[in-house]
Amino acid sequence: MDRMNSYVTADTIRRRREEIGYTQKQLADQIMVSDKAVSKWETGRGLPDISLIEPLAQALRVSVAELLCGQLMENRNRAANMRRSCFYVCPVCGNIIHAVGKGSFSCCGILLPVLEAEPAAPGHEIQVEVIETDYFVSLPHPMERSHYISFFAYVTQDTVVLRKLYPEQDAQTRFPIAGPGVILWYCNRHGLFQTRV
Ligand SMILES: [Fe+2]
Repeated sequence: MDRMNSYVTADTIRRRREEIGYTQKQLADQIMVSDKAVSKWETGRGLPDISLIEPLAQALRVSVAELLCGQLMENRNRAANMRRSCFYVCPVCGNIIHAVGKGSFSCCGILLPVLEAEPAAPGHEIQVEVIETDYFVSLPHPMERSHYISFFAYVTQDTVVLRKLYPEQDAQTRFPIAGPGVILWYCNRHGLFQTRV
C-alpha cells in the first residue's frame, strides 16, 4: 500500500461517489445529511462524524476498512480459483480469515495484510505421508502457547480444508486426499509456509 490514512479523506469520498455515479445530493439523501455537508467533506472543509462512517461506507458500497484507508478493492475475485486463496491472521486475537482472493479484511480494528506463504524454513519442514486415502501431515515443532502451529490448510482447485490446531496438541493432522494442490501451515511466530502435494 502506497498510502494509509487513519480517517476517510475528501479524495476517497469524491472518487468513490463519482465511481458509483451519485450526485452529492443523492449521497447526502442516503445518509440523511445535507448536500452541503457532502460538498464540505469532498473539499476538505469538514469530515464526516464517526457515527456516519458505517452508513457512508454502506452508501458507497465499500467496507469501513476500505473507506478509512482509502484503498478501494474492486471486485476482481468473481472467477477466482481456490489455488489463489489468501489467508489473513489477526495478530491480536489469532482469528484466521480465508478468502478466495485478496480483499480488505480487518479484525480487532486492524486492517490485516495478506500472508505470503514461503517454502518450508528450517525447523518448519513438514512430512507428508500417504496413509490409506489420507495425507498424514506432521512436523516437529513446539506447540506452546507462545509458539505453535495454529493451522494447516489443504487447498485444491475448488476446495479448501482448514484445520485449526491448539497449543498442547501435536503438530499433525490428516486430510482426505482430494487431488493435486497445496498444503499450508502457519506458525504464530514464523509465518505461513506451503508445499505442493
Ligand atoms: Fe515456528
